[in-house]
Amino acid sequence: MMEQVRLNNGVMIPKIGYGTYKATIEDGYGIVSEAIKAGYRHLDTAALYENEEDVGRAVKESGIPRSEFFITSKLARYALGYENTKREFEKTLNKLEMDYLDLYLIHWPRPDYGDAQFEDWKELDVESWRAMEELYEEGKIKAIGVSNFLPHHLEHLLEHAKIKPAVNQLELHPGYLQEEAVEYCKDKDIAMEAWSPIGRARLLKEPLLVELAEKYGISVALLCLAFDLQNGYIILPKSTHFERMEENLNADAITLEEGDMERIRSMPLAGWSGEHPDRETVR
Ligand code: A2P
Repeated sequence: MMEQVRLNNGVMIPKIGYGTYKATIEDGYGIVSEAIKAGYRHLDTAALYENEEDVGRAVKESGIPRSEFFITSKLARYALGYENTKREFEKTLNKLEMDYLDLYLIHWPRPDYGDAQFEDWKELDVESWRAMEELYEEGKIKAIGVSNFLPHHLEHLLEHAKIKPAVNQLELHPGYLQEEAVEYCKDKDIAMEAWSPIGRARLLKEPLLVELAEKYGISVALLCLAFDLQNGYIILPKSTHFERMEENLNADAITLEEGDMERIRSMPLAGWSGEHPDRETVR
């Protein structure tokens, strides 16, 4: 069975999950079913991905008990606020056809970028969090957390939270380390989850990574995943190919020498998606 880690509330989470963003544009049900066949039991979706129905159906039709899965979904940024969160959560459960979630995250800390109308994002986050705390206490969610929160987003939430976030899901890969956010979360016992751990394939030709992948006799994709795992992150790689889905589950078996970890840590910015919670996407 896939190795698991313990979150700050005692819940166990598989270290490798399948990221469903964009992987499901054409045949979501088929692709998620393949991922389950490849061995994934931790599936990461979001209201925004518009594939919660596909994920729910693939889980149901796999014939594997719900209790063997770890299912994450996320509250969309446009739906922040107390009532909205309660309503959106019910929608998510209905789409998944499930009666609980393992993990529910606030997808982005603010509704949009700098629009005066949304200057109260700090309050909206706190209101969403209060709704999520209630759902958690009712047993409808096993763990609650955030995504794309930097220290200045987390500070206000932590001041008002009864329950500390269990995870923060960030873009984390060689060439994009987000060290301040990682250190901040480590200090607060908030587990890091890595989205786009392969830098959405933008890293596959990076000379240093190619050199090191050759040294270990593995693909650059696997090297990226091993780097994140060795940093202690939970990883959420995506692939639409069965053999790569399987390959990525082996990232755990690789140990990189500390000197190589250092070389990767010191490489220049690379593979960044262009997404930042406080500004419009640049590509
Ligand atoms: P594909 O779907 O064709 O397999 P990320 O998870 O960082 O967003 O990266 C996803 C991208 O990485 C996709 O383009 C995916 O392509 C590619 N990818 C995933 N796993 C591998 C792998 N093991 N080898 C090569 N490319 C991979």
